[in-house]
Amino acid sequence: MKISIVGTGYVGLVTGTCFAETGINVTCVDIDENKIKNLKQAIIPIYEPGLETLVKKNLEKQRLSFTTSLKDSIDQTDVVFIAVGTPPGEDGSADLSHVLNVAREIGKNMTHHLVVVTKSTVPIGTSVKVKAAIRDELEKRGAQIPFDVASNPEFLKEGNAIEDFLKPDRIVVGVENEKAQSIMSKLYKPFVLNNHPILFMDIPSAELTKYAANAMLATKISFINDIANLCELVGADINMVRKGIGTDSRIGNKFIYAGAGYGGSCFPKDVKAIIKTAEKNNYPLRLLQAVEAINDDQKKVLVNKVKNHFKDDLKGKTFAIWGLAFKPNTDDMREAPSRVIIRHLLDAGAKVNAYDPVATHEAQTIFGDEITYGKDPYDVLIEADALLLVTEWPEFRMPNFKVMEKLMKSKVIFDGRNIYDPMEINENGFDYYGIGRKS
Ligand code: UGA
Repeated sequence: MKISIVGTGYVGLVTGTCFAETGINVTCVDIDENKIKNLKQAIIPIYEPGLETLVKKNLEKQRLSFTTSLKDSIDQTDVVFIAVGTPPGEDGSADLSHVLNVAREIGKNMTHHLVVVTKSTVPIGTSVKVKAAIRDELEKRGAQIPFDVASNPEFLKEGNAIEDFLKPDRIVVGVENEKAQSIMSKLYKPFVLNNHPILFMDIPSAELTKYAANAMLATKISFINDIANLCELVGADINMVRKGIGTDSRIGNKFIYAGAGYGGSCFPKDVKAIIKTAEKNNYPLRLLQAVEAINDDQKKVLVNKVKNHFKDDLKGKTFAIWGLAFKPNTDDMREAPSRVIIRHLLDAGAKVNAYDPVATHEAQTIFGDEITYGKDPYDVLIEADALLLVTEWPEFRMPNFKVMEKLMKSKVIFDGRNIYDPMEINENGFDYYGIGRKS
């Protein structure tokens, strides 16, 4: 079997590499010549644990190749995945121009039957548009080549993408006929061996499943953050409440960790997009509107605690930030709570010294020299009036309080991810503020 993946972003690159891992022949296509040049040497543009090693290995085994020519890539291919970006348009709905351009290119260049699979996160109804774009180009050429469309949303988590792809909770595929189902079934066979289910369904259901999954997870997070804020008012501890509810198997113990709000390229974008789709159908999704509003407020909770502690006088004060990425194991800062927190601190006249194990470079493109960047966690604590823990990287979990005490001007910790034990922090002479906990 031979497949092509168009778009070597996060999703495309992980998908192509993991399919190559099963022994099939994969060609990844991108219009960015520089990116392709680098990928041919296993230089990858993103930070994703394990990905570089797998790219290198599959390049060497000649199962994975990279090209800028879509035309060449689909020669003798059975399946083409469209995995290009769908950035939010001005009104929050996904911009489909890249997806549809690829569909047109496929229509212009295909010579035999193909299954064209949409892998990008796209609004319900996109496969119909993809199909129309391909058909349109075929008609222009006067060509009568059969093809099928399918929808195969991804559920990868950044930082854990390889594992998620190789051992999926489930694979969702929307198809229109038996032929496409049988080809997709064959392609995914290596991944469903150990009881990982593959769920075939109609295309609109597959497209909506992706949004519904992310919206449900975002809802869990905003729910727990809302309850955390209530905990503070009534003297309860969110960690206790989390355990209390999470042990109910109907609720489950995952994705109910209170914190500084959800970020990343997916939840904020997808919640907006599903709200937009519903609006277009005259059905306002009131619950998800609230989920979004709660999250916007939650990103400010930590900074509000800082303001309260320092009686609204942050001018000239120095704050150390641990963690800039929207979550650990990634350098991605899209919609990261750190961006909102740092901006508010700067606007209030404070100085910010930040450290992140991998996202410093990314932060420089956002904040430039408005803030300073440390080489290690302790570097940024020098003369700091407080520490704000924003991303729960493992290396922040067991800090050396003796060293911290010597470096910091005042001993205060704002724990935006509830990773510390308040008692231990207090015993070491620090003031502690968490999310939804007694300080
Ligand atoms: C998310 C989904 O988890 C994936 O299944 C999906 O494929 C992906 O979006 C996508 O649509 O591409 P990702 O954005 O990589 O994956 O990150 P998550 O691990 O889901 O975390 C998202 C945010 O929620 C982070 O800011 C994290 O800190 C926050 N979060 C997560 C919480 O605040 N509390 C929790 O309990 C869990």
